[in-house]
Parts: sequence; C-alpha cells; structure tokens
Amino acid sequence: MTRLITGDRTDDDSIARLDDPDLAKDVAAGLSAGQKTLPSKYFYDDEGSRLFEVICGLPEYYLTRAERAILERHADDIVGDLEPDARLVELGAGSATKTRLLIDALVRRQGGVVYCPIDISAQAMRVAEENVKAAFPSGVVFKGVIGEYRDALGRLSTMDQHQKLVLFLGSSIGNFTLAGATRFLAAIHDGMGPRDRLLVGLDLAKSPETLVRAYDDAQGVTAAFNKNLLVRLARELDADFDLDAFRHEARWDPVESRIEMHLVSTRRQTVHIGRLGLDVEFEEGESIHTENSYKYTPGMVARMVRESGFREERMWTDPEGRFALRLLAPA
Ligand code: TRP
Repeated sequence: MTRLITGDRTDDDSIARLDDPDLAKDVAAGLSAGQKTLPSKYFYDDEGSRLFEVICGLPEYYLTRAERAILERHADDIVGDLEPDARLVELGAGSATKTRLLIDALVRRQGGVVYCPIDISAQAMRVAEENVKAAFPSGVVFKGVIGEYRDALGRLSTMDQHQKLVLFLGSSIGNFTLAGATRFLAAIHDGMGPRDRLLVGLDLAKSPETLVRAYDDAQGVTAAFNKNLLVRLARELDADFDLDAFRHEARWDPVESRIEMHLVSTRRQTVHIGRLGLDVEFEEGESIHTENSYKYTPGMVARMVRESGFREERMWTDPEGRFALRLLAPA
C-alpha cells in the first residue's frame, strides 16, 4: 500500500503535519488591494477551529444539523453502492463528528475502514482522532494529514488501488467563488480514479433573513470567529489591530447568491503590521472581505458539476430542503 503519510512526523504516529502556508505574503497582498481581503483559510488556527465547532452548534447555524440529518437517515444508502473494501478520504475534516455516521455505516457493511482526513488545524486533527478512536476502538485505521486541500489533492492520485469515497462536507465548496469551486472540483476529479466517488455537501439558496442570521448569531460567536483573524495577525505578524474598532458584518449578495463576511472599520484608522513593515489605512466604514459562502440553486450546481467533469449519481436533502448531499462520479 502507498503510504499516505509523509512530511514531518508529529509526536503522534497517525498524524502528519505539512508546511504552514505563507501568511505574510497573502496578508500583504490582501490588505493592499482596493477591496481589502484576507484568505479564509487563515480562520482555522486552533482557536478558530474551536470557535467554528461552537458555530456548528448554534441555533441559527442550521447547516450542520441539516447535513447531519441527511447522514443519519441515509448513510447506509450513501455507502451502499461502494466496493466492499472502499476507503474514506475527507477534505477539511474538522472534528469529524458527522463523518462518524458514514464510518459507522462502512464498519457495519465491510467490518472496517481506512479513514484519511485532512485538515489545516492540528488541534482539530487531534480531536478528530480522539473522536474516531473512542467511537471505533477497532476496525478503523486513522491516517490523518495536517495540511491544505492542495496537499490532499496531490496525494489522492498516488494512493492505493482501493476505491475511494472522497468527502467534502459542510458546504466548504461554497467558500470558493463559483469559478474557483469549479476549478477545485476539477482538480479533485483529476486526482480520482474512474471508480472513485465524491460526496459533496452544499447549502441551498433560501430566504436572506435565515441566511444572514446563520452568519450573524445572537451570541456573537460568528463575530468572534471573524475577528479571530485579526487576533491571529496581531500575534503572528505583530499587527496592532484595535479589535473594538472593527465590527463583524454578514451581507447577502443576491446576484452572486452568496453570504459575504466582512470586518468593517468603525472609524478612520491606520493599522501597523510590524512583521511586514506595512501601514494599512482604513476609511470609516471600509471593510476587509473575509469570506464568501455560496448558496446554491439547482442551476448553479448543475453547471459546476458538469464543467468540472462530473456527473451526479445520487442526491439527498434534509426533510426541510435546506441542504443537499450529492454523490458525484467522474463523467
Ligand atoms: N462552509 C461553511 C459555511 O460557509 C463554514 C464556514 C466557513 C463558516 N466560513 C464561515 C461558517 C464563517 C460561519 C462563518 O457556512
């Protein structure tokens, strides 16, 4: 079998850590742009990953519950047509809480499974491993990778000959632009063999009020999650952000069919980023665009699936029709 794990070993033998991304360069480029931006992958330091787990349990954030409802109901059906020794690969696994429903279905069906999660957060990976090992004391081989999606894609094509079910859950695909999502799906497609399958979770278009609430909760956890990006820049790049001079905002863009997250400067101010030797000027009301979350119509999905080289084999939704899981096969 090809080893999935390379790179620097952590102290735990079943998890490998890949190189850290280039924060300084991305931040310099993003904060020098006309509309300031920061890449959303930097949300997920240990604190960000922890806050995100809290978001998943918030009353307003229906996505996680809707997706779990689908998995609770249809896990057996989802894995039903896989080959008897299929393996599970998961992009952006987080704590792998929902994945246990699929692992469970596979263990019931084929006695055991090799599970290869990839996540950018070391802390999330530790939690995932604990969760999986506690839930499945035997039968599950855990081969985690701490790293970015692109690292996972490189590995996909060099893995062993077993059929793979690749998971991309939580509407993480919706954090790419439509063009970016199509390119990313095409890259997954290129790493897959003809027998492999991709299970992708997509949040569906619905009322803007429901959507904005999901990204601007009453307890302010999503605001803290968004602002944690600034905390991270303060710590890692020696930036002097005044956290009270930025507020979290979730905006619905009906043309793009997406929620945008922004950090809005409440006054005119200059932020100094020590490690970059950079002064960043903000007007009052000027924002840093930190995230997109696309909400898909059937037409958007059909086009993305087709243009990335897939065909849709099956689809499941939750009883309220808020969220969809789609099983894609190389076309
Ligand atoms: N993909 C999820 C979503 O779009 C998770 C997510 C990404 C998220 N960034 C976020 C959730 C910011 C809340 C806030 O919902």
